[in-house]
Amino acid sequence: MYTEKVMDHFQHPRNMGEIENASGVGTVGNAKCGDIMRIYLDIDKDGIIQDVKFKTFGCGAAVATSSMATELVKGKNVQEAMKVTNQAVMEALDGLPPVKVHCSLLAEEAIHAALWDYAGKNGITIEGLEKPKSDIHEGEEEEEEEY
Ligand code: FES
Repeated sequence: MYTEKVMDHFQHPRNMGEIENASGVGTVGNAKCGDIMRIYLDIDKDGIIQDVKFKTFGCGAAVATSSMATELVKGKNVQEAMKVTNQAVMEALDGLPPVKVHCSLLAEEAIHAALWDYAGKNGITIEGLEKPKSDIHEGEEEEEEEY
């Protein structure tokens, strides 16, 4: 069901932990499955992401996508980090089963939330960045979904 890369990142998550006095912190939840992901970014004065850590209270796929997402944004500038979409995270993991696609959305949203926090603290605007949701289903119509 899971690719080797997903299993590897689940069993050996990269960048797990937290950053004290982070430049930006973002937390996003998914009320339907109850999973929560938090991303910490350490961004230098040139806008480069020097360090990134995550804490995920969630399923194995959420842990694997957080781990991969942190690897993908590390060393990038904020604009490049915006390109780390859930699609990019899934591709880097060689795919996720369809019922687990929403887990990768948490990773994208948590990064955006952390960037939003950073932008707000520094009074800057990041192109393409919209106010993050605190829950990935926020604003959606109630729909039937299976987990
Ligand atoms: Fe909810 Fe994976 S994030 S089941």
